[in-house]
Amino acid sequence: MKILVVGGAGYVGSHCVRQMVAAGHQPVVVDNLVFGHRGALAPDIPFYRGNMEDESIITDILHQEQIEVVTHFAAFTYVGESVEDPLKYYLNNVAGTLHLLNAMKRTGVNKLVFSSSCTTFGIPDFLPIGETHKQVPISPYGQSKLDIETLLLSLAKVEDFRFAVLRYFNAAGAAEDGAIGEDHDPETHLIPLAIAAAMRKGKALKVFGADYPTPDGTCQRDYVHVDDLGRAHIAAMEKLKEPNTRLFLNLGVGKPYSVREVIDAVERVSGKKVPVVLAERRDGDPPTLFADPSLAKDVLGWEVKFNHLEDIVATAWKWHSTHPAGFDDKVDITRHKGTKAQRHKGGRGRT
Ligand SMILES: NC(=O)c1ccc[n+]([C@@H]2O[C@H](COP(=O)([O-])OP(=O)(O)OC[C@H]3O[C@@H](n4cnc5c(N)ncnc54)[C@H](O)[C@@H]3O)[C@@H](O)[C@H]2O)c1
Repeated sequence: MKILVVGGAGYVGSHCVRQMVAAGHQPVVVDNLVFGHRGALAPDIPFYRGNMEDESIITDILHQEQIEVVTHFAAFTYVGESVEDPLKYYLNNVAGTLHLLNAMKRTGVNKLVFSSSCTTFGIPDFLPIGETHKQVPISPYGQSKLDIETLLLSLAKVEDFRFAVLRYFNAAGAAEDGAIGEDHDPETHLIPLAIAAAMRKGKALKVFGADYPTPDGTCQRDYVHVDDLGRAHIAAMEKLKEPNTRLFLNLGVGKPYSVREVIDAVERVSGKKVPVVLAERRDGDPPTLFADPSLAKDVLGWEVKFNHLEDIVATAWKWHSTHPAGFDDKVDITRHKGTKAQRHKGGRGRT
């Protein structure tokens, strides 16, 4: 399949691109590089630097590249920032997606895989979290994802529009060969932060609360390997070949691991001590979140390859320890916003 990967230079998107290539598909990436890295993509991956909200660019690309399906990873993803600046999140994540969808409609592309999030559920009533759990997000970020979920269903009721909403729990890990991995700035995810602390790159790792009602008092989350997410995307795209496909699927391993267990795993894998400092609980952090992935297993035949936290951490360690500065394509892109669809093959930071 010819796939448009929107936000494909980001963390999850770039790993999915590799999975798509490995499965024999042809990904074409569009990303504005506000957070992504051109270096996260192989030089031969067709790449357009642009904004998803720029309908004329997206329309041109969908036409020119004869795209059959869109996978949509582009978003701002910082939950805390979304509370402080909700408009920024609604403009990018909601309004941006509306324009992307309009470009799809204009060009007759009717298949979409959308990256949603477990944050759409808010504070859980019960665990594990299955698809029937009520969705009451507690942040504008989570709400921005739920708004798009709702819209997709409305669209599919009135036209032949097929979609798969994939709600990730905590994406984690890196490519098994260590070629690409996570490089966010700022970084807020626990595993890269714990690894950075072990490598003495920054300050000690902040542990937000050790008095939760969990076995060791720290919060528990469901860490799912990015390549397993990639495999779910590929299975979902196959499903979209069937008319009337409307999928809402929770993607996690189905096992919670605590902050303390993550720290222990990083110490075992790296052979280094993780310096830790205890901090106050953060607002809105539920003690435990983990998925019930059985529907994704049934519908997609999805089985995670990475079942154990330590194996996930090992892939992350391989990436971070060999790329301590992350991708080497850091450029100031704020002054170079493209205005028309320009396809870039290879090179770093070319605009
Ligand atoms: N990482 C996780 O644990 C996690 C969990 C749940 C859901 N998600 C969702 O998965 C998706 C990918 O997450 P990620 O961790 O890879 O984030 P990321 O920031 O690494 O990737 C997002 C990419 O989208 C691009 N982008 C943002 N706005 C854009 C726009 N308007 N036009 C074009 N490109 C734009 C960024 O430059 C970046 O490359 C996001 O939608 C996120 O909400 C991620």
